[in-house]
Amino acid sequence: MSRAIEYRDIKKIYGDRAIIEGFSIGIEQGEFVTIIGSSGCGKTTILKMVNGLVEPSGGTVIVNGRDIRNENMIELRRNIGYAIQGSVLFPHMTVEQNISYVPNLLNKKNKKKTKDAVSKWMGIVGLEEELRGRYPQELSGGQQQRVGIARALAASPDILLMDEPFGAVDEITRGQLQTELKRIHQKTGITILFVTHDISEALNLGTKVLVMDQGKIQQYGTPEELLYSPETEFVGRLVEKERPGR
Ligand SMILES: Nc1ncnc2c1ncn2[C@@H]1O[C@H](COP(=O)(O)OP(=O)(O)OP(=O)(O)O)[C@@H](O)[C@H]1O
Ligand SMILES: [Mg+2]
Repeated sequence: MSRAIEYRDIKKIYGDRAIIEGFSIGIEQGEFVTIIGSSGCGKTTILKMVNGLVEPSGGTVIVNGRDIRNENMIELRRNIGYAIQGSVLFPHMTVEQNISYVPNLLNKKNKKKTKDAVSKWMGIVGLEEELRGRYPQELSGGQQQRVGIARALAASPDILLMDEPFGAVDEITRGQLQTELKRIHQKTGITILFVTHDISEALNLGTKVLVMDQGKIQQYGTPEELLYSPETEFVGRLVEKERPGR
């Protein structure tokens, strides 16, 4: 297995405060990493270092074997999907135009191919065809999030960064989206980094879970390792109600 992402001794300083220090992990290709930790502990910052939206103050981020400092950011981002909480859809574009935005950039000539891809991704995230021509403000919050996820996936990324993407949806929709995302992950084999503040979601979705607190790694391991061999008190408290059969 080769590494999709490697963080080497990352540090991030804002003003005179070190937000992140001594952060090093390797993420294998095809891994589904969920990231959990208290608010402000640096989860979003860690995520944004992968697509260059945040630059580390120290250390190196390697994506697909290459130091991203030497990469063209536009090229880099083309292979990295990014889905965040709340609506980040283009408000003046329909569902179809939103989802096909990147495929159209890459594939200008073949309109039919793009149209089919839009249908495929709408189906996968559970959006009805009839929503194709609607604008974001004519959709429910859950539907908007699905469009956001379809748009991120339609660019056929190798890596998908998701920052609390299911935050604003109800329990039922959330359950459906989790099932879909798991299926997409298994089918496509892409590498996913997924920030959540819900430990059940982190354990259910992740092949690996990264627990952070105050800019430091508490544990990086499989759900089983976290549940049955927590390495710190913080992790122990986090998972204690999650063990099955209790
Ligand atoms: N541009 C910035 N300038 C100064 N401080 C910042 C900046 N961006 C983030 N921070 C600080 O860095 C810390 C980590 O922020 P980050 O957004 O990574 O947290 P988080 O773990 O994603 O939190 P949440 O769960 O609330 O989303 C916070 O204390 C935040 O206030
Ligand atoms: Mg955040």
